[in-house]
Amino acid sequence: TNNPAFSRDEKLLAVCGLLEQNIAYYTWVGFYFANHETKTLHLGPYVGAPTDHTVIPFGKGICGQVAVSNENFVVPDVAAQDNYIACSFTVKSEIVVPLFVNGENIGQIDIDSNVLDPFTEADERFLEFVNQEVAKLF
Ligand code: SME
Repeated sequence: TNNPAFSRDEKLLAVCGLLEQNIAYYTWVGFYFANHETKTLHLGPYVGAPTDHTVIPFGKGICGQVAVSNENFVVPDVAAQDNYIACSFTVKSEIVVPLFVNGENIGQIDIDSNVLDPFTEADERFLEFVNQEVAKLF
């Protein structure tokens, strides 16, 4: 992670690619980063279909709710969520895990799946570990 030949965004993109390539039910993998002044999330590196939702207000959608709650959000079925921002009609489920640097929630990893209800506690523990490693880049 400390190889200076690659920028932080290049490393984050590589993390997204590894996850999307190796876990069959991870369809879209990306990072959002918080601006605490404007209370908005901003799309960072991602792998998967381009999304119109590059800026998300705190509180809005699954991602915006995690910016406020500081807790993992596992959505087995996005159709059952009222406060949800659809990026693609093929997406059936989502998991968002906050990214903490020195105890501060600076953003999140967001994963969409085309599979219904695929995420388990193993995904949560794994993505918490990924984010702990990613936090070392900051
Ligand atoms: N579905 C998310 C929006 C981001 S896209 O999944 C890339 C949400 O409800 O916050």
